[in-house]
Amino acid sequence: MTCNLVERIQSILAKGKVDKVQLNAILDATRDFMPNFQQELCDQDWEPGRYMLYKDSRYGFVVMMLVWGKGDKTPIHAHGTWGVEAIIKNSVRVTTYTYCQKNPIELSCSVLNAGELAFVIPPDDDVHVVAQEGDLPAISVHIYGKELTENIIFSPGQGFRPSPVTCRRVQTKIFEKTNWFQANAHISSYQMSR
Ligand SMILES: [Fe+2]
Repeated sequence: MTCNLVERIQSILAKGKVDKVQLNAILDATRDFMPNFQQELCDQDWEPGRYMLYKDSRYGFVVMMLVWGKGDKTPIHAHGTWGVEAIIKNSVRVTTYTYCQKNPIELSCSVLNAGELAFVIPPDDDVHVVAQEGDLPAISVHIYGKELTENIIFSPGQGFRPSPVTCRRVQTKIFEKTNWFQANAHISSYQMSR
């Protein structure tokens, strides 16, 4: 199994700042690589939560896996960086919102099934909620422009505020030929809000 996803994203980022043109190219690269994610990740018995799969030492982008248990749902949040989401098993519901400090308004809502992708990019397309959909646990892979040490989470009456993000770090065969991975990095539990 090769790591051409990383190489393709590196070559895209080498051209400069990510706008929607570059983001479309990253979406294409992720779509092409999706069978590798599905083959490697879908048959394992993951606990619900966030898993860090890869961090790029040159450009800083990260690849994360999110495992969604029944009823798991994020708060309304933003990342402050570009992101690509690929559903690799079962389904999630993605709802997007305006970036309003008092009352974010829903802009769109769609169910994404395995094989489908979505993106976020600030400032206009960043605020969203992701929720597990249907009767079966879901798995998605997320590629972000930087490591998410915090998300920007909306709370009624308080607006958007930074909130720490934790994830487990795991090593997969997908990225075994890369030399970035800190196999002994800290492992911390993470529970999505329900
Ligand atoms: Fe998100």
